[in-house]
Amino acid sequence: MADTTNVFAPEYPIMPVLTQRRSARGYTSQPVPAEVLHQVFAAAASAASCYGEQPWRFLIGTQDGSPAAYAKILDGLIEFNQAWAKKAPVLVVGVAKLHFSHDGNPNGWATFDVGQATATLAIQAAELGVQAHQMAGFAPDKLRAAFSIPEGFEPVVVFTLGYPGDLEALPEAARERELAPRTRKPLAEFLFEGQWPAPEGERYDQAPV
Ligand SMILES: Cc1cc2nc3c(=O)[nH]c(=O)nc-3n(C[C@H](O)[C@H](O)[C@H](O)COP(=O)(O)O)c2cc1C
Repeated sequence: MADTTNVFAPEYPIMPVLTQRRSARGYTSQPVPAEVLHQVFAAAASAASCYGEQPWRFLIGTQDGSPAAYAKILDGLIEFNQAWAKKAPVLVVGVAKLHFSHDGNPNGWATFDVGQATATLAIQAAELGVQAHQMAGFAPDKLRAAFSIPEGFEPVVVFTLGYPGDLEALPEAARERELAPRTRKPLAEFLFEGQWPAPEGERYDQAPV
């Protein structure tokens, strides 16, 4: 069932699922069935990637199926994130393979592509009534050690997966952020046709004329 909490109001009409995807912090205790998880990660597989490398790897821990892995991922989060993420039934580490497989050269787009795969799976999840909440607030070295992630691979994101709900159980700060208005920059601030926009006001790196 679609999540109708804090739906995003876009400037122009977009696909409803995009307005429903949100970074939920409150979750019900309902596990995410394996079939749903497979659909979510099949969506990740559909993403484009530089040279078709598919440099994403996902390490998953579930409260019910793999509690030891779940605990290790939770332990790798900063405290603020632990406080709400511990309610989510699924935690995932997104890992980038840093070199191209075809020639061994550094893949400068590896993290970009992990982002594309993660964005795609988050949309598929929302379509299935599941929300993903991405986090930069984690300790990559802790996760590397906990899972013996080899050289050449870098943990770049951790995210939750779960059915949204249960805001009452959240710490105050997390609940406030959950319900804060979902504002976005207007298109005019990030979409430029034909030329880069003129700087507003005087620039510090130019002598006054
Ligand atoms: C790369 C990335 C890192 C993020 N890190 C955190 C985090 O550490 N903790 C957190 O609570 N939210 C984190 N977020 C969630 C953002 O705050 C959230 O996406 C943003 O406020 C927009 O809200 P929405 O996703 O609900 O539209 C992160 C999101 C992304 C994409």
